[in-house]
Amino acid sequence: MKRLLWTIAVGVLPLACFYSIRAQTAPARPAWAFLTPDKEQPQVPEEKAPIRIPASSKSYTAAEIDNLSNPPDWFPEEHGALPKVVQGGPGSTALACGACHLMSGQGHPESADLAGLPVEYLVRQMVDFRDGKRIDPARMNAIAKVTSDEDIRKAAEWGAALKPVVWVKVMESSTVPKSYVSTKGRMRLPHPAGGTEPLGKRIIELPQDPARATSRDPHSGFVAYVPPGSIAKGETLVKSGGSGKTIACTICHGDDLKGLGDVPRIAGLHPVYIVRQLYGFQGKDYSGTSAALMRKVVARLDEDDMIAIAAYAASLAP
Ligand code: HEC
Ligand code: HEC
Repeated sequence: MKRLLWTIAVGVLPLACFYSIRAQTAPARPAWAFLTPDKEQPQVPEEKAPIRIPASSKSYTAAEIDNLSNPPDWFPEEHGALPKVVQGGPGSTALACGACHLMSGQGHPESADLAGLPVEYLVRQMVDFRDGKRIDPARMNAIAKVTSDEDIRKAAEWGAALKPVVWVKVMESSTVPKSYVSTKGRMRLPHPAGGTEPLGKRIIELPQDPARATSRDPHSGFVAYVPPGSIAKGETLVKSGGSGKTIACTICHGDDLKGLGDVPRIAGLHPVYIVRQLYGFQGKDYSGTSAALMRKVVARLDEDDMIAIAAYAASLAP
């Protein structure tokens, strides 16, 4: 019995210490960036009829659109043959990359834009997710654990070959449409009751057309509302490091933030995704060796700085 208690104590203590250290050092993470679904969800009637989107000859039911193992491929003529790990298929049990990242790879604010990122970078992220060196427990850690090395490589080659287009329009504004984060897919959507509210210190990223975005239409992008003045402030931080606040991002991510070697592009990414990663580097979400290069970059950034940096980076052409 004594021995059992001892084992429990030894097992639990480091964990308790880990969490208390984490609580002391990691700054509170803003809910707007991490997209936790709202408790109060407006009633939205489910679409029963087959769904169509502009310029596609295809139609899918709502259930087919949300089948993450066999997601819609609205424009098969726009890409070559897809690896099965990306496309999924009837009877497949694995979650297809193209479901959340779309067949265009550019994804939604709650997932990530993979288009045109270096193969080595994408492989490294998958291996880090698999080995617990990058944390996204609800999705990518589990997905990477069941993806073979061969499929990781095929998916990375698919992502790297995609040509990114402008996918997020960044707008400075002090007010935004009222919105909520849906339990279905965690996308932030405009509130059906309408209305506006002050933006405050947040970035609110909404689909240009909610029905098309929730249908996984790869042609219908996003609008990001950012506080007035953030783009210019972000440009200073990104290009000069803001007198010692951070390190100029351009040194490693390239002059136009389009990536350099195996350092990824950050130009044109979803700004709420960028903010999530900056918090992740500051906390304990990344422990890979390449991610160590981001430690000093984020050490002194506060929420305002991160908003400004993300607003500027997202406003650049990918
Ligand atoms: C259920 C939805 C879902 C599916 C399916 C999915 N992903 Fe993801 N993926 C996400 C989310 C959410 C994130 C962002 C995590 C974060 O914010 O840190 C992400 C992030 C990533 C990243 C990090 C991107 C970056 O720029 O660092 C890579 C790489 C990635 N996914 C690859 C894949 C691959 C390859 C597959 C298929 C094997 C896949 N994903 C399937 C949801 C998904
Ligand atoms: C010393 C080099 C270096 C500097 C300076 C640097 N970065 Fe990075 N950054 C990296 C590397 C390397 C990675 C990839 C880490 C990995 O592989 O896990 C990265 C990854 C990122 C990512 C994650 C990208 C994704 O797709 O998930 C973001 C966001 C980012 N950096 C933002 C910035 C910003 C903003 C700045 C400037 C304020 C900056 N970085 C400065 C080296 C750097």
